[in-house]
Amino acid sequence: MSTTISVEHLSYTYPGVSDAPGVPVFEDLNLTVEEGSFVAVLGSNGCGKSTLAKHFNSILLPCGGKVYVGGMNTADAERLIAIRKTVGMVFQNPDNQIVANVVEEDVAFGPENLGVAAPVIRQRVDAALKQVGMYEYRNHAPHLLSGGQKQRVAIAGVIAMEPKCIVLDEPTAMLDPKGRREVMDTVLRLNKEKGITVVLITHHMNEAALAQRVVVLDKGQIALDGTPKQVFSQVDKLHEMGLAAPETVELCHDLNTQGFSLPLDSLDIEECAQVLYDVLKA
Ligand SMILES: Nc1ncnc2c1ncn2[C@@H]1O[C@H](COP(=O)(O)OP(=O)(O)OP(=O)(O)O)[C@@H](O)[C@H]1O
Ligand SMILES: [Mg+2]
Repeated sequence: MSTTISVEHLSYTYPGVSDAPGVPVFEDLNLTVEEGSFVAVLGSNGCGKSTLAKHFNSILLPCGGKVYVGGMNTADAERLIAIRKTVGMVFQNPDNQIVANVVEEDVAFGPENLGVAAPVIRQRVDAALKQVGMYEYRNHAPHLLSGGQKQRVAIAGVIAMEPKCIVLDEPTAMLDPKGRREVMDTVLRLNKEKGITVVLITHHMNEAALAQRVVVLDKGQIALDGTPKQVFSQVDKLHEMGLAAPETVELCHDLNTQGFSLPLDSLDIEECAQVLYDVLKA
């Protein structure tokens, strides 16, 4: 499998304003994301998740080390358009990402900026809106849509640029449970059916549990990295970092402090219920 994103010895410090010292975030971070994979990135507030994501399409450039996307060095100004074509970004607040007054015009904005020919844009816009289930809203005003619908339009805008990789920075943070499900279903489908590499930054452990790989950032380093079951079973370490495991794992962990010895890798309710049933039956 080839690599979509490669972070090599990344260091980054936000410059200080006036005489204030800079804010160091990374000193020597290494990470690779394989093509076609679905990676969730977790970490407590301020640990550097958004800073890392912004390095994936040249919004921020490393102070030291290198970041490659699709083999291109993100510091290579001549490749900026190619880099932005390769990695699309979706942010937390859909209102800040919507630029046009009609849904289909909004989705066309990205490919237009990339210089894609008009008839091709038409096809891409229609296809992208169908993929996120928003085609029937193509002539609507984006500001009249729900948060989940707006976020799906924002995702369509990214898909229309045909990126190899989508990086989503807390895309469901402002959404209700239905909106969250809509967005997560869309993201999962893009990964499974279109083979788009997904990097999902989230504070929702149940969303991270849907990924193939979970990476936990702490103090500028990768503290945990593995399958959701491997990472979420390390409950004590997660607590030390100010994080929690999914509720099913937390329940088993609590019961273990009361004398049970339950496995800590039940990530869905059915699986957890079966584990508890087996123990109680015995
Ligand atoms: N523009 C900036 N200028 C100076 N410092 C910044 C800037 N943006 C972020 N920081 C600092 O860099 C560190 C990492 O911030 P970042 O936004 O990457 O964290 P995060 O993991 O995304 O947090 P959250 O979970 O709250 O979104 C924090 O200490 C933050 O205060
Ligand atoms: Mg953030």
